[in-house]
Order: sequence, then C-alpha cells, then structure tokens
Amino acid sequence: MLMGDSSGWPALFALVWAVEISFVRSNIFMDEARSRLLVKEKRIRFGSEVLMNGQEKKANRNLMAIKKREIMEAMETHKFPPSMHFFKAKHLIEDSRVFHVIKKMPKGAALHLHEFGMASMEWLVKNVTYRPHCYFCITPEGILQFRFAQSAPQNLKARECSNWVLLEDHRKKLKDTVEFDKSLLRAFTMVTKNPEKIYPNEDALRTKFQNIFLSISGLVRHAPVFKDYIFQGLKEFHADNVFFLEIRTMLWPVYELNGEIHDQLWVVRAYQEVADKFKRTHPEFMGFRLIFSDYRTKSLALIAHSVRTAIKLREVFPDIIAGFDLVGREDTGYSLYYYKEALMIPVTHGVQLPYFFHAGETDWYGTSIDRNLIDAVILNATRIGHGFALTKHPVVKAYTQNKDIPLEVCPISNQVMKLVSDMRNHPAAALMAYGHPMVISSDDPAVFGAKGLSYDFYEAFMGIGGKRADLRTLKKLVTNSIKYSSVSKTQKDLFMKVWKLKWNQFIDYLARRPR
Ligand SMILES: *[C@@H]1O[C@H](CO)[C@@H](O)[C@H](O)[C@H]1NC(C)=O
Ligand SMILES: *[C@@H]1O[C@H](CO)[C@@H](O)[C@H](O)[C@H]1NC(C)=O
Ligand SMILES: [Zn+2]
Repeated sequence: MLMGDSSGWPALFALVWAVEISFVRSNIFMDEARSRLLVKEKRIRFGSEVLMNGQEKKANRNLMAIKKREIMEAMETHKFPPSMHFFKAKHLIEDSRVFHVIKKMPKGAALHLHEFGMASMEWLVKNVTYRPHCYFCITPEGILQFRFAQSAPQNLKARECSNWVLLEDHRKKLKDTVEFDKSLLRAFTMVTKNPEKIYPNEDALRTKFQNIFLSISGLVRHAPVFKDYIFQGLKEFHADNVFFLEIRTMLWPVYELNGEIHDQLWVVRAYQEVADKFKRTHPEFMGFRLIFSDYRTKSLALIAHSVRTAIKLREVFPDIIAGFDLVGREDTGYSLYYYKEALMIPVTHGVQLPYFFHAGETDWYGTSIDRNLIDAVILNATRIGHGFALTKHPVVKAYTQNKDIPLEVCPISNQVMKLVSDMRNHPAAALMAYGHPMVISSDDPAVFGAKGLSYDFYEAFMGIGGKRADLRTLKKLVTNSIKYSSVSKTQKDLFMKVWKLKWNQFIDYLARRPR
C-alpha cells in the first residue's frame, strides 16, 4: 500500500525515521534494563560485597588478565581442565598460571578433611613401607594388608590373609622395586589413566575407596607412623599455605610393635602432641580441631554410644574436639532421621554438641538420603558437609542462607565420586550466583592424587566461579574458612590477624607481578 501511494515517499521517509528513533530508544531501554539486571545479579554474587584497596585492585587486574587468557585459550583448544576428569586434568592444572597464584595464596583453613586422606600416599610408600618390621599379606579379594610386628603376625581373624611376608625381605628378592612401589601407590589411591572404564559406576568407586582404607589402615594405625602421618599431613597443608585444619576422625585404636593397643584418649592426646610439635617449628600455624565421626552404617544403639562418647571427649578436650559427624557413603547408609533418637541426646540432656553433618552428597533427588539436608538443619548443624543436593531444596537453601550455615564444598571429591563430571555444572556455581555461604575443602586429597587445598580452589575459581569470579571471590572463600571454623571468637580474631599479614604479602606479590 505504501509503495502504491503517490504521496508515499514522504510517508515512507517518516516511517523509516520513526523506526530509527524507536530503535535508538529501545536500544537505550535495552541497555539500561540490561545493566540494571546485571548490577542486581552482581550485587547478589558470592564475594560481591568484598571491598578491595588500591593494591588489591592492582593485584586483581593481574590475576584476571591471567585468568581471562587461560579461559580464552581453553575456548579455542577445547581443553579446559575444570571440564575434564581431575585425573586427566591434573598435569594441565599444574601448568596453569592461575594455579600457581592460588598455590601462593594464604588459604586460611581446610574445614572438611578426613584423617587418613590428608598426607600424600607417595610419602606412605616411600617412607612408611620402608620402615623395619613391616609385614604384608594379600586377602583372597586381592586387598593388601599391612602390620608392623616383631615377628610374623597371626592371620587376621575376620579377613583371611595369605602368609605374612616381611616387606624388607620381599623387596630384596625383587628385581624391580620401582614397579613394586608403583603398584603400592596404585593400591593406595584412586588415580588411574582411565577413570571412566575402571570405575563404571558408583559401586566400583566406593569399593576401591574402602579397599584403600583397609590397605593403609595397618600402616597409619601403627603408633609411631600415626604421629608421623599427622605431622606429614600438617606439613603438606602448611606448604600449600593452609594454616588451620578441622579433621573428621573416628579415633581408631592405634597399636604398638609389641601389640599394645591405645584407646581414643591416647589418640586425641597424640594429635595434640603432634600439633604442639609442629607449632614449635611453624609458629604461625594455628593448629587443628577434631570432629569425632562414626559410620552411618552402624546400629542406632552404637551411634547413640558414639554421641555420648563425643560429649565426653568434648568435656575432656574442649579445645580440640569440635563436634560430631556421621561419615561413609550416604546412598547406602542410614539417614540422619533414622538416628534421630541418638542425635537428640545432647539437646534432651541440655548439653552442647555441635554437628557437622555430611548431608546431601547425592544425585538421587527425592530419596531418603536426599532428605538428610532437611534433618541436618533441624538438628542445627553448624556447617554442612558437601550439601551437593541443596539447590533442589529451596526452603532449606533459604534457611541455610538466612541462618548463615555454610556448605563445605569439595569439588574434586564430588567429581571423582561421580556426582558431577564438568565443574561448570557443579551446583555450587548456582549457589555462588546466589551468594550462598560456603567454604572450599578437599575431603581426601591424598586418595584423589591431589595435595592440600590448591587443586580444589583452582576448580572452584576457574570452573565453578565462571569467568567473572575474581580476587573478591577468593578472598571471601578464604575469610569464610576462618569465619566458619569452630574456634572461639578470640582465636578467630588472632587467626584473621595472622592471615591478614600473609594476605598483604601475597597481594604485594600479585600486584607487582607482570601479566
Ligand atoms: C620418614 O619420615 C620420618 C619422619 O617424618 C623421618 O624422620 C625419616 O627419616 C623418614 N624415613 C625415610 C626412609 O624417608
Ligand atoms: C535447635 O535449635 C533450636 C533453636 O535454638 C532449639 O529449639 C532446638 O531444640 C535445637 N535442636 C537440636 C536438635 O539441637
Ligand atoms: Zn567427607
């Protein structure tokens, strides 16, 4: 119709003009609306409220330049470590400049660790299995067992074993001890070149996981080794710039060469002794606390007993025992709800026992295990281990956010245990976008072939946090680890002061660093 009209030209012109203007207008509208929304989202984001001083801003510019370059590169090469299985990504991570910055960063505290997954298994092979009086045997299922003894031990009662052989004699007979040591290392970690094939399902993973602890148990529970093992664990975390640990422990009995067995009190004292010794040579180390834990496969009566034990231990060692947790695979264990009578003992007796429950470490939405998250908050958990399923529980999510109950996010553990394959899809990514309280930890780094906290921080910063997570995200994660630790207010203040000095040094280094 326009074209057919003789007076069409001016009309067309007017129309085009109008369209142009409205285009400009809508463009302005679009841009404004867009930046309003982005600002709103940015304000909510994890770490957005962290203020940076001039030096931190400089450091941040350098850090983000490196980070953006690595992400751009990955988008071209399609090799992005956080999207790959950790066993395959590890050497790429070690080449990353971001990783090297993270290693140098003072990381505060590691709040989710298990006692026998802390110190590297290489050390166990190279140091502990070379000690005298070390015997080994192999069960019919092919699981290695170890025992330090004056003479060949009697067969284990529960788990029939081959003849006990003195490791020293065995190594003398071998042509290739290097290969033998490698085979030990393979038995002590989950690391493999082909994780998808070796661990086709969660059962295969959990079986291997259990076998590792069955194997190393006889090594690490030998009294002198036990103390050295803890010491070695502290050394490795300290070398990774971590200054405080909270360790889940079952307080297993520890044995001497002559067969004498030590009880839980002895074990806690041994922990204390090792911490004191370590602090003498590392004065800025803040020590550790223990979270007494038991298996979620045990009967209600046994867990009730353990809860009472935890209460007693806390009375005897108020500075060391932080509280109680239930550990072991959630998917096949009992739910928190199942143990409600045991877990209500403290509150019905008017005593305090802080809980640090593993909860929601599952992909099985809607199952009784998935509901552990609900029971964890009802039972007033101080922190939640993993909380992987939290994004599927909006009310619990809002509750934990309002009550400032943090999640202990352990990215590599979640990936190795098959909860998530690509870190960019880790539910903590959404939780970061919502500014949910969290800390980063490493669960059992030695079992996964990691060390300290840096690998998990790398995954959190590069994979979970996305392209725009910057120094503020890191600073918030680190300060959270101090804020949410179980120590007293006075100790936290001291801890924060010590950390701040180290942080400023790190910032100076990063601000000076050429991009
Ligand atoms: C093993 O470690 C202990 C203490 O950590 C050390 O004293 C000892 O020399 C080491 N032994 C070997 C064989 O490396
Ligand atoms: C949890 O805390 C609330 C409020 O402080 C209290 O009423 C309740 O008894 C506590 N429950 C447990 C199991 O500690
Ligand atoms: Zn754990």
